[in-house]
Amino acid sequence: MYTDASIERLARDIVASKKTVALSGAGMSVESGIPTFRGKGGLWEKYNPEEYGHITTLRYHPERAWIMLKDMQLAILPAKPNAGHYALAELEALGLLSSIITQNVDGLHHVAGSKNVIEFHGNLQTTSCMDCGFQQPSSAVPLDTIPPRCPKCNGPVKPDAVFFGEAIPLDALTRSHQEAQSCELMLVIGTEAVVYPAASMPEIARSAGAKVVEINPSRTPLTDFICTYSIHGPAGEVLAKVVGKVKELRKG
Ligand code: APR
Repeated sequence: MYTDASIERLARDIVASKKTVALSGAGMSVESGIPTFRGKGGLWEKYNPEEYGHITTLRYHPERAWIMLKDMQLAILPAKPNAGHYALAELEALGLLSSIITQNVDGLHHVAGSKNVIEFHGNLQTTSCMDCGFQQPSSAVPLDTIPPRCPKCNGPVKPDAVFFGEAIPLDALTRSHQEAQSCELMLVIGTEAVVYPAASMPEIARSAGAKVVEINPSRTPLTDFICTYSIHGPAGEVLAKVVGKVKELRKG
């Protein structure tokens, strides 16, 4: 696990950093009750992403894609931010966090109050018609019969998340590169860092001279090669302690 000394080390690095950026992954929302993709009990244990999470499946076999999407919506829509989301929102409010690059599609950083959030993979909170473009809150889409159809033109509908086989929104990609290249400190929170191009952000930050600090109960492909140091613990618990220490240091 982690020590008070590692919490204090990260708090000091955050206070000293002129520009800090966070990269968050599914582990950020585990304490909100949302399963991760990989590892024990992960979504990809149940559904092959290349089959269920691919844009081709959604287009040509929507009834299959929506089996997984219904599962995801049922887990994500009722979820609430956890202490980790609120801690990052507080860091931003204190002027100590420039942006969050999130791979997550649950929208919880926004709900927790973070303003500068780059949604690398879009989000599941809204759903759009693939024919007429009509957009509606995903909570308004009936899931008793799947696949759901557009209430306006009866066309096929798609959550506004990035599916496998789709491009990352150019704006998200550009802004993320800029943030990664210009930060002094990158917090890498709850990601296995195996899906590119999101997973290249820590490498970009490190090559630009930034410290890269990982918060994750487990080791990842970044741990030994990219991270300056790691704090092995759950994101919500660790981030709440780090922000508490940051406020103490700023008072003192
Ligand atoms: N706190 C922090 N990290 C945690 C916690 C926790 N409480 N619980 C688990 N983790 C870590 C796991 O150790 C793992 O490293 O979260 C990570 C989750 O990894 P993945 O499930 O691979 O999620 P992620 O890295 O976000 O996946 C990236 O892959 O399938 C695509 O589009 C999908 O955005 C997703 C992308």
